[in-house]
Amino acid sequence: MARFPPGFLDDLKAQADIVQVVQEVVALRRAGTSHKGLCPFHTEKTPSFTVNGDRGFFHCFGCGTGGDVIKFVQLHESLTFPDAVQALAQRFGVQVPVSDDPTRDAAAETERETLLAVHERARDYFREQLAAPAGTEARAHLDARAVRPATAEQLGLGFAPGQREGLKRHLLDAGYSLDILLKSGLVVEREGARTVDRFRNRLTIPICRDGGSVVAFGGRALGMGQQPKYLNSPETPLYAKSRTLYGLHLTKKAIHRLGYAILVEGYFDLAQVVQGGIEPVVATCGTALTASQARLLRRFASKVIVSFDPDAAGQAAAVRSGELLVAEGLEVNVALLPPGEDPDVCVRRRGREAFADTLKQSRPYLESPRPDATSRVTSRGGRSSRRCWPWPPASPTRRPVTSSPTGSRNELA
Ligand code: UTP
Ligand code: MN
Repeated sequence: MARFPPGFLDDLKAQADIVQVVQEVVALRRAGTSHKGLCPFHTEKTPSFTVNGDRGFFHCFGCGTGGDVIKFVQLHESLTFPDAVQALAQRFGVQVPVSDDPTRDAAAETERETLLAVHERARDYFREQLAAPAGTEARAHLDARAVRPATAEQLGLGFAPGQREGLKRHLLDAGYSLDILLKSGLVVEREGARTVDRFRNRLTIPICRDGGSVVAFGGRALGMGQQPKYLNSPETPLYAKSRTLYGLHLTKKAIHRLGYAILVEGYFDLAQVVQGGIEPVVATCGTALTASQARLLRRFASKVIVSFDPDAAGQAAAVRSGELLVAEGLEVNVALLPPGEDPDVCVRRRGREAFADTLKQSRPYLESPRPDATSRVTSRGGRSSRRCWPWPPASPTRRPVTSSPTGSRNELA
């Protein structure tokens, strides 16, 4: 029997939204943080079948059946485990690794674990460097853009010194092979077979899986004329950019609790918005959203407010992202900032309330002006499209985005 590597199964389960899968065969209604319906595995008149989308499992309190999304498909469609995996993978567009070689699978798994350890070590090293005398300029950069030390700590920000082999030496000394360092993308090969640190004289931003493990880094240039402005980790066995949302590990609880997410473009947009006490944020990291990212988000939220740069590139990305989110079944609002402001600048220049106001004034995506379709934006059903959505929802059980910054921060932990 084919053996699937655990990394692949985790990936598949992250992509295959259990609520969506179950919903196609069982009528579900939301009950607190989970969903409820009539159990498809035994006869009942009152619902005792629950699905927890966030944690990816189902359970029936009536007959005791339960498990993850794969188990559900297995039971419901009477499939073997490998067949259920294949069916889900095909449906959610996840590539099934073909391997009949268990030794190789085990080796790949060990390698992924080593790569995770390497990233954790690297994050710690960068953090130490930020606190060290070498990090003075990097700390000044954070200070100048009003990122408080507590926020830097919360995000795990660090500093990669200018020397060519700082991290490389540190990790080789810790016993990691050059081969694994190259695979991590943290060390790169230069001409003449010379190997050097990828990130040099940059502020480092750890990028995490939604579970919290560091899988990549973004690096912000600090020097005058240093290009590119942001250098990012390459795709590695750990990191698929198209499937990762920056900041989700910190903000998923708030997103889930509030039922919506604010989607921004940049690392520092997220930093500034979160620091302002507006918690449910994730960042795309400068590209339009992918279908995988939309599905990832849908595990935690049913609504998204897109708040991208007001420039042409940002608005084009907002349109593409909006389209995709709608296609994935999410409700989408678009918030528009004045020219020259991204969320980072908005919060710094005019305060969190001003940013919260743009969220409140955000309009349903389908009614928003689009750069490519301005003429299509008219009224709907005779009502003016200037109508604002009641946003955020004014339910007393939900914390408004305008809540005080103190007291809300620790919920991010
Ligand atoms: P922006 O160009 O809008 O930069 O890129 P920013 O976030 O406002 O940058 P600051 O405020 O000057 O520091 C938005 C996001 O796009 C990605 C990064 O994730 C960035 O946060 N990006 C941008 C890159 O990956 N590479 C680049 O060269 C530029
Ligand atoms: Mn910016």
